[in-house]
Amino acid sequence: MLSDLLVVTGGTPLTGEVRVRGAKNLVSKAMVAAVLGHTPSRMFDVPRIRDVEIVRGLLELHGVRVTDGDLDGELIFDPSNVERAGIDEINVHAGSSRIPILLCGPLLHRLGHAFIPDLGGCHIGPRPIDFHLEALRQFGAIVDKTPEGLHLSAPNGLHGIKFTLDYPSVGATEQILLTAVLAEGVTELANAAVEPEIVDLICVLQKMGAIIKVHTNRVIEIEGVPRLTGFSHRPIPDRIEAASWASAALATKGDILVRGARQADMMTYLNVFRSIGGSYEVDDDPVAGGIRFWHPGGDLRPVVIETDVHPGFMTDWQQPLVVALTQANGLSVVHETVYENRFGYTNALNQMGATIQVYGECLGGAACRFGRRGFRHSAVIAGPAKLHAHDLVIPDLRAGFSHLIAALAAEGTSRVHGVDLINRGYEDFEAKLAGLGARAERPVTQAA
Ligand code: EPZ
Repeated sequence: MLSDLLVVTGGTPLTGEVRVRGAKNLVSKAMVAAVLGHTPSRMFDVPRIRDVEIVRGLLELHGVRVTDGDLDGELIFDPSNVERAGIDEINVHAGSSRIPILLCGPLLHRLGHAFIPDLGGCHIGPRPIDFHLEALRQFGAIVDKTPEGLHLSAPNGLHGIKFTLDYPSVGATEQILLTAVLAEGVTELANAAVEPEIVDLICVLQKMGAIIKVHTNRVIEIEGVPRLTGFSHRPIPDRIEAASWASAALATKGDILVRGARQADMMTYLNVFRSIGGSYEVDDDPVAGGIRFWHPGGDLRPVVIETDVHPGFMTDWQQPLVVALTQANGLSVVHETVYENRFGYTNALNQMGATIQVYGECLGGAACRFGRRGFRHSAVIAGPAKLHAHDLVIPDLRAGFSHLIAALAAEGTSRVHGVDLINRGYEDFEAKLAGLGARAERPVTQAA
């Protein structure tokens, strides 16, 4: 039996190539969109990751027939028999993912009722769903919160709304899109998130027959239509995974070609990568292309960055990059403005020899909504630090990947516990690591 432990011996530069497939944060939402159609949908380049398995399980529970297509990574969704699922069966998925909340609109449209279990996902702050519920109520849903989960119904159907988000939340924007496309009348959403994954979800919905206009200043207008069909879609590549490997190349003084990575989705990351002293080269070939990232030798430079909604520097890029910043010559500042509690992982880096201080003030940028409220959301990283091996426990997906990079950059052998969590968002990461020359293996344990 394989354990959930990876034994990692650091000090070897990661070199070689990896391929990224469809973005986790689009694929899982497009799978939910398939429920809205009356004919089958088809998606290509779907990564084999745990989050896709969870959503597949949830769809199957609701009567969607999901089958593998002929091509590697091709999935087909047949929603012709969408049906209510048992609460006990749905609750098996409680706590495992945040995607179930996005099923509200599609299930209300198809069945007039939805049950949503307790949500999961990474533990990176309270992650409320108040925007989602407020919008659903305005669409006409009745939301009943019970200890077992949320029961929603729409006895009078769902009708278009005029809604302004207090913050451009990705999930709430998706919730409103997935509900508005079949709601009666027009929906106008202001202060919407416009991440590339959202634009790609809009492309999926448009292929299904939706009418969605993206205006200037984060305003999205959706004209409800009475019926949607299935779609056929090749998702945008995973820009979070691509940046994770890029940061790994920098932190380990390596050279990684990330096939499938797309420049347009990563411009902000690429600017920071270059400012630090990393080198990259873009190959635009639609099939074999990608971006090669490497450490050109010499000192890395410190930076001051602020995470933000698109087109800002993604919050999910910061954890792997911070490991690279421990190797830069001077003081770097990272101001996290998307989540209030996303620096917990830096304790482990400090135990490995890094010098990272986390502050409650908004450092290095404009004041954000977390300032002066006791949230430790700005980090100062002093480098270069000589990292040494340590026993690590993976706290969440992105922090987990940063722990792995730190172990690979450190001298000595680290024991990294809880690595299965990384399978949620990184396809075949162990095989990819092996291909890049990393020394990382799972000890074989005896079955109990
Ligand atoms: C999505 O989460 C991603 N997850 C996250 O990626 C990503 O970090 C995040 O967007 C930001 O880009 C998926 O797509 C599955 P939000 P989401 O709603 O939609 C506040 C990863 O590792 N908020 O944009 O849950 C919230 O507390 C994951 O792949 C409310 O206050 O993020 C947060 O501070 C981690 N009320 C901010 O908005 C609400 O009702 C942004 O959250 C909803 C959100």
